[in-house]
Amino acid sequence: MEKNINLTLKVWRQKNAREKGRFETYKVANVSTGSSFLEMMDILNEQLVNEGQEPVAFDHDCREGICGMCSLYINGRPHGPDDDITTCQLHMRKFNDGETIYIEPWRSAGFPVIKDLIVDRTAFDKIIAAGGYVSINTGGVPDANALPIPKDDADEAMDAASCIGCGACVAACKNGSAMLFVSAKVSQLALLPQGRVEAARRAKNMVARMDELGFGNCTNTGACEVECPKGISIANIARLNREFLKAKIQD
Ligand code: SF4
Ligand code: FES
Repeated sequence: MEKNINLTLKVWRQKNAREKGRFETYKVANVSTGSSFLEMMDILNEQLVNEGQEPVAFDHDCREGICGMCSLYINGRPHGPDDDITTCQLHMRKFNDGETIYIEPWRSAGFPVIKDLIVDRTAFDKIIAAGGYVSINTGGVPDANALPIPKDDADEAMDAASCIGCGACVAACKNGSAMLFVSAKVSQLALLPQGRVEAARRAKNMVARMDELGFGNCTNTGACEVECPKGISIANIARLNREFLKAKIQD
């Protein structure tokens, strides 16, 4: 049964990328445990606006676990205390009455803070622009089953394609590595015939761009997989490494 809870929030406030940030403490009362975490943030912001204070800037769009925008670090975990969900899918029933909740932006050299809880994730767009697409002419839409693809490959490609680019993998990694994200984007194409044509160039260029953009090296801690809201497997990282090595040998 839903109930109302009172909370203390320690929220990271930072004016812009240049200024230092700090935690500010806010109280929110009578939050329904049936509301979502972002609805709780809306309640806080309404309260701040009514008090003449600046609302907390945070990213969101779909609020359905699709867009990957809601990048919050909650009580030390990307996307908070629940598994396999995004912040917008997190419910307040996961918290207790009287609890103190720490809310921070992603912490990573690759994702500089823009304001409060919003980080700049354009580095991911730049990695995609380096090769995360198919540019060959694949012709018109083929008839179903005209292009035979083994079921396992199709399933793995679909699983990899469920990456929403949220960045939780980077935030969870002590090295700030983007390998899980890059490996998902490489895998979803490398597993399909249309993506094979450019596979070598894609793996090389995307990894090179990732390195240039300040992401750290992968040391196989597996923290990324644990915190990924879409369950992207680190088996994709092994595939990326194989694709990368193949590309290097072909050079
Ligand atoms: S791999 Fe998972 S955690 Fe990383 S960007 Fe994709 S969905 Fe988010
Ligand atoms: S707001 Fe789109 S995934 Fe959370």
